[in-house]
Amino acid sequence: MSTLATTIAGRRFSTCLMNAAGIRCQSARDLDALVASAAGTYVTKSATPNKRPGNPEPRMTTLPHGSFNSMGLPNNGLAYYLDYVLADQIKRPTATQFLSIAGTSLEDNLAMLHEIQASEYRGFVELNLSCPNVPGHPQTGYDFEQTAKTLDAVFAFYDKPLGVKLPPYFDLAHFDAIAAVLNQYPLTFVTTINSVGNGLVVNAETETVAIRPKGGFGGIGGASVKPTALANVRALSQRLKPEIAVVGVGGILNGRDAFEHILCGASMLQIGTQFGYEGTAVFKRIAQELDSIMALKGYNTIADFRGKLKTLD
Ligand code: SIN
Repeated sequence: MSTLATTIAGRRFSTCLMNAAGIRCQSARDLDALVASAAGTYVTKSATPNKRPGNPEPRMTTLPHGSFNSMGLPNNGLAYYLDYVLADQIKRPTATQFLSIAGTSLEDNLAMLHEIQASEYRGFVELNLSCPNVPGHPQTGYDFEQTAKTLDAVFAFYDKPLGVKLPPYFDLAHFDAIAAVLNQYPLTFVTTINSVGNGLVVNAETETVAIRPKGGFGGIGGASVKPTALANVRALSQRLKPEIAVVGVGGILNGRDAFEHILCGASMLQIGTQFGYEGTAVFKRIAQELDSIMALKGYNTIADFRGKLKTLD
């Protein structure tokens, strides 16, 4: 009998599938649907200190093999999500939630983390260092010095389990550089990848860009980004200290994609674009497909093949 259960920092999740931040997780109703689904847990929409409307519409569109967005962090503000996870913690004391935060400045991130530190929250925080869609605010994860400065300031006082959500990296030297920074801190996990930022979708008929914000530039998600996501999961798994779990996200549409992410080293899988298209049924379907692949291959647990991708030398 196989299991898709996974453990991160001693917290057990009944299955290794969950949503990715930003997708159907903005309202309490969205989060209730995730709690009622076959997902092993959920992550809340990345919060800023106060409610934000996000970027002007249209701000997302579909692609033949994915999605394209420049949402700009529309969210209900930290208090809303903190209240939700605290209430959930009382209802389900053994569950571990992921609370995502994405301040548009270091000061905002620190202020939110002080609030979370002072609260009864026991779950994970996913600190988003990689939103590509806030005009005038570059992705912190691409600035290695600023990432170190951020984590120095965070871990000077924050002592609950915390991970970071990273942008995709495209060069082996950058994998080395970001891993060298992250390995200096008591991180619980990294989530990789956020959307491939600042792509451009053109509508040839109207001879315009497809979305309004940032002159049409936006983040690419879905099937097209899977090779980049797998490379980041693999490269970071090979470089990070073993205490830092890797949460894989990017291009997971079916059980085979999930299997590939785990082979590359992921301990938990987040589903973004496909969850947006399919709704909560996606978790049960992908779990069944992954389970069938594991049964065929004789694997009982995801630890049996996690990170065991072979090269051809
Ligand atoms: C957004 O709200 O713009 C997406 C969030 C993200 O990519 O981190």
